[in-house]
Amino acid sequence: QLTNMRGLTAGTLKLSVVTTAQYFAPHLIADFCRLYPHIDVHFTVGNRQQIVDRMEQGEDDFCIFSHPPQHEGYQLVEFLPNRLVAIAPTNHPLSQQSKVSWKEFCQAPFLMRERGSGTRHAIEEHLKQRSSQPNVRMTIESNEAIKHSVMSGLGVSILSEHTLTFGGQSGLSVLQIDQLPIVTNWYLVRIKNKPVTPIADALLTFVKQMDRQALLADIE
Ligand code: PGA
Repeated sequence: QLTNMRGLTAGTLKLSVVTTAQYFAPHLIADFCRLYPHIDVHFTVGNRQQIVDRMEQGEDDFCIFSHPPQHEGYQLVEFLPNRLVAIAPTNHPLSQQSKVSWKEFCQAPFLMRERGSGTRHAIEEHLKQRSSQPNVRMTIESNEAIKHSVMSGLGVSILSEHTLTFGGQSGLSVLQIDQLPIVTNWYLVRIKNKPVTPIADALLTFVKQMDRQALLADIE
């Protein structure tokens, strides 16, 4: 079907993604734009709550979440795994251990994403299931600022593996902990009864048919 739609020459695709998706979504959009080079793309980034609000206002053709809002009026297309891992500075004592216990990890000063973050939501669910409490030292509203704070020795954290790609892991170690990673999935989400533009339809077909392994290889 994709080739049939190559006649598509103009128009705008509106896409909003949660902050953790900003590491891979541009690669997906680049592959799509190679097929449809004349389209315009409006790309917005926010935390989960900000993108939930945009979704409710019907602002975009699609949103990308790993924890999509539960709503029977939304169509969800699952397309990639999202693994959340524990990080510490490379010179931290925990980074020298081949296995770190969950209990010991929870005692280390922890840097947490802000309320409204999907990453924080996943971490809190994981902690609740294990009746564990983290030793929260700071709340930080950015994956990048968390990484730099971890590098500078302020504490440890749990972030999506996507945030560590393209050399973004330098100065950081991923800790080996039995209870991790937290595995979630990425979803492309649209409002079912919102009219589908030809470009939105093309993106839906593209995501359903794309070579997931090739995209994963591109972003690792
Ligand atoms: P966020 O995104 O932490 O930036 O909200 C990740 C997610 O929704 O899983």
